[in-house]
This record gives sequence, structure tokens and C-alpha cells, in this order.
Amino acid sequence: MSKITAAITAVGGYVPDFVLTNKVLETMVETNDEWITSRTGIKERRILKEEGKGTSFLAIKAAEDLIEKKGLDPKEIDLVIVCTATPDMKAAATASYTATQIGAVNAFAYDLEAACSSFLFGMSTASAYIESGRYKKILLIGADKNSSFINYKDRATCIIFGDGAGAVLFEPNEEGLGLQDELLRSNGEGREFLQATYGGSAYPINEDTFKEGKHYIFQDGKTVFKNAVFNMADVTERVMKKNNLKNDDIQWLAAHQANKRIIDATANRINLEEEKVMMNIQKYGNTTSATLPLLLYDYESQLKKGDKIIFAAFGGGFTWGSIYFKWAYNS
Ligand code: UT7
Repeated sequence: MSKITAAITAVGGYVPDFVLTNKVLETMVETNDEWITSRTGIKERRILKEEGKGTSFLAIKAAEDLIEKKGLDPKEIDLVIVCTATPDMKAAATASYTATQIGAVNAFAYDLEAACSSFLFGMSTASAYIESGRYKKILLIGADKNSSFINYKDRATCIIFGDGAGAVLFEPNEEGLGLQDELLRSNGEGREFLQATYGGSAYPINEDTFKEGKHYIFQDGKTVFKNAVFNMADVTERVMKKNNLKNDDIQWLAAHQANKRIIDATANRINLEEEKVMMNIQKYGNTTSATLPLLLYDYESQLKKGDKIIFAAFGGGFTWGSIYFKWAYNS
């Protein structure tokens, strides 16, 4: 019997309607379209404006899109994982609410958090369950409502982040398609450079801390940038070497969309032509856990069965990694 691999068999996505352009940001903080475009590649991002709607709203929309496109009966889903750094609320898993709302009544559900690497690590988790034979249909969602913890007076962060969600279905494959190999890493010494300090268990929010505004996300952009460029390119190159892959063997690079210059640096390290580099940062900014599935959502029609894709991500924590993947279907 051939070995069971874990393949992606469907993709869904959702971004909110409200578009926050660089031009509008110019009226909010001291910045300009030229600076944002040349330093990050971002032109606009989507924001979920409606009160009372959290990350689950985005996750549900992306999941419903996938379910409709695939013609999937949600009762067949075994597990729903929501990868997110911005859960709806503490203690109650966003995934549990999402699963129930989409009718996945036979599934169990939980959240997975590793900042911008959440979805990449989730791909590893979902694949391991499938490869083990334990579950047959896993809905992996990457969703973040970043606008909920952005200070729109801080130009170092508000120009970068946006809201969105993407979903993929993992199923067993007997043709050897899907996840091939991975290299995943973390280094806790990096956490001081990218975090929302208050609001967790170490520093709960009280009246004083609230005034300091440290419940918003903070980043030392330069340090994060340097570490992202080095580490994302490093693991990508290593995963390729380990699998004897040359640049010509690769059809696509799907890299976390945090800054176009970081993505370009990774592509340059492996000598990959621009046409093979998936890019949608100009439209959505950095949607944290949603960047990788939103790339698949936007590029799905161009992907062919057997295409070799290198996924890569870097995020807070620090967390980072790269996955070598074979696409399983023509759409
Ligand atoms: O998802 C993973 C987490 N995040 C990331 O991977 C993001 C990593 N970091 C970055 O993408 C970049 O560091 C930023 C986009 C955040 C900043 O770009 P940078 O090229 O590292 O800029 P910088 O912080 O070194 O600042 C350069 C200059 C400074 O002015 P001076 O000191 O040279 O006069 C800043 O004050 O640009 C100024 N600046 C801005 N100017 C206009 C910083 N932010 C802005 C802004 N608009 N928004």
C-alpha cells in the first residue's frame, strides 16, 4: 500500500469590504504613499469595521466560501483548526465557535497561535493528523483581525497590518502529493521585538497600563526585518537543498506577506524568477495568519497538479519555517 500524504484539496478566502488606502493613512499619521509603497510594497489593506465582529467572522466567511466551492458537507469535517494571533476572546476557542457556525457538528476544534507563522505550523499539524490516518478531513483556517490591536497613531505598525482569512481542506492522498518536507523553528529571545505586551497573563490590562497603550502591537521593525530576511531565506534554502531541489524545479514561492523586500530577499536567495513568486501584499498588507491561504486563494486558478511549492513564513516569537509541498489538483 502506498504511503498516505496530506494534500490540500480545496481553498476559500475572505477579506472585508472596507479598503484602507495609503492615501487615507496619510491623513492619519505622518507618512506618505511613496514611502509605504517603496519600503513595504503595500498599497491598501482591508479592515473589518463592524462592531462586535471578531476574527471568527472572517474565519466563518472563508470556510463558507470553501464549503460552497467544494460542495462539501460540513458534517464530514473531523477537525477545524483556526490559526490566529487575534482570537475573538480569551479562554473560548475561536475555532469552536467557527466550527459550530459552519455546521461542522461532528468536528472538534481548537486555535493554534504562533504569530505570523501560525498557518505554516498549522499545515504541519494538519498534515501529521492526516498522515497518521487518524482523521480524513481537516479544515485549516488562517484568520486575523489585526485592526483590533493596532494603534492607528503608530506609523510603524498601522501601515503594515490588515484583516482577512483563508481556509484550506486537508485530505489523504495516495499519489504522493501534498506536504513533502518541513523545517520549522522558534527562538523566544525574539519576543521583545514584536509583541502586544499588555492583555495577556504576564501583564493583564488595568487602568494604568491601558493609558500607556501597551495593549497595542509594538514592533522594532528593523530588528524584525533583519531576522525575517535572514531566517526565512535560510530555512527555505535548507529545505530545498535537503530535497535536492534547484530553482528550476520549483513552480511557486508562497511566502508570508509582511514586507515585499523580505519576500524578494528570500526569492533572491534561491534565484527564483519574479513570475514564480506569489504576491498580494499590495492589496491586503500583512494579514498575519491569513497571508499564506490568501495567496492560495488568489493564485488557485494558476496552480496545476504536481506543481512544487515552497511555503515560508517568519513571525513574532520569533517563529519561522519553510515547507516543501506538491499541489494536488487543477481547478
Ligand atoms: O509579519 C512579521 C512581522 N513584521 C515584519 O516582518 C515587519 C518587519 N519590518 C519592516 O517591514 C520594516 O522594518 C518597516 C516597514 C516596519 C520599516 O521599514 P524600515 O525600512 O525598516 O524603516 P526604518 O524603521 O529603518 O525607518 C527609516 C526611516 C526613519 O527615518 P529617519 O530616521 O531615517 O529619518 C523612520 O522614522 O523612515 C521613517 N519612517 C517612516 N516614514 C514614513 C518609519 N516609518 C515610517 C512611515 N512613513 N510609516
